[in-house]
Amino acid sequence: MKKRVKTEIIRVNAMKPSYAIIRKAANLIRKGEVIAFPTETVYGLGGNALDPSSVSKIYKIKGRPSDNPLIVHIADMKTFSTLVSEIPPDASRIISRFWPGPITLVLKKSRILPEITTGGLNTVAVRMPKNNVALELIKESRFPIAAPSANISGKPSPTNATHVKDDLNGKIKLILDGGSTEIGIESTVIDMTQRTPVILRPGGISKESIEDEIGKVHSHYSHLGLHRSTINTNKSPGMKYRHYSPNAQVILVEGTEFNAKNKIIDLTQKLKSEGKKVCIMTTSKSLKVNADKLQYMGKTLEAIARNLFANLREADKNNIDIIIVQGIQYNKAGFAIMNRLKKAAITSIRV
Ligand code: TXA
Ligand code: MG
Repeated sequence: MKKRVKTEIIRVNAMKPSYAIIRKAANLIRKGEVIAFPTETVYGLGGNALDPSSVSKIYKIKGRPSDNPLIVHIADMKTFSTLVSEIPPDASRIISRFWPGPITLVLKKSRILPEITTGGLNTVAVRMPKNNVALELIKESRFPIAAPSANISGKPSPTNATHVKDDLNGKIKLILDGGSTEIGIESTVIDMTQRTPVILRPGGISKESIEDEIGKVHSHYSHLGLHRSTINTNKSPGMKYRHYSPNAQVILVEGTEFNAKNKIIDLTQKLKSEGKKVCIMTTSKSLKVNADKLQYMGKTLEAIARNLFANLREADKNNIDIIIVQGIQYNKAGFAIMNRLKKAAITSIRV
């Protein structure tokens, strides 16, 4: 076991971060340390992307398998051009339209990136975040910053400094607290090395918006979690793909508003009668059933996305055994939300 460190949490103005605080954080990065900072999507756990020893600390702290590469965050186009060996025209168009913002481009990498940052691949995932704390930190560090989400691997991503502290207290020296993140789910990851670009992870920028800019793009079926078990809870080889998962087991219920809510009510009664502690996460502020906890998901897709991980973490408190979540629509931001819910769930039921 590595020695515990004292984790300092410093509140920082998200719009106009104080230079002294940014400099302190950047100095830690320059010394090879790893710190947590806000972006517009989720909090990142960042270190110098060009330093193998910093990057190896990131994998260790998160408990992340080393073949799962990291996103490299940049604050200017000059640094960007040093990281990649080729910028296809469609990539340039996405960049001019959406950067800074929640979309990550996978491109052929240059030679300055160490293998560990890209998990041994010949490509690199890069993005320019739309958050002043993140941007100032990257600039002041004078290095591109490799950063996965600042959670323990497998847990829901952190959207505020408390979430980061809950997962990483004692493991990192500093958390920059810039308040709750705006978008709430991670960036879209798109592979630009293919003739037709492929969305590897749906996220903050929808497929519809990307297609509006560059035309047809592909996306993987796995985004819908179709490789995971459906309905049959006993047979769940999909367990090993669990992600974004609270301690309680998540059951996803999909269908029309009416059917889904009735199913949720039935299921809650059944589980309660078996002595389980149940939390319900739905798009209603109340439901005619006596659950141990009700977690309201929000009204608009944007609000549901923004609060999704915080809701999953909140639902998990007070020894809840099962969280029953109502599915939502699959288009636009709904697609990325459903992707996260499918991965969080041990099973999903369609009614
Ligand atoms: O919004 C975000 O993207 C946040 C904030 C902190 O920027 N970061 C984030 O990082 O979500 P992480 O590590 O949790 O997810 C990065 C995803 C992973 O699914 C990883 O497999 C993929 O990006 N990825 C990274 N490099 C890649 C590459 N060269 N090729 C394909 N996929 C890559
Ligand atoms: Mg992550």
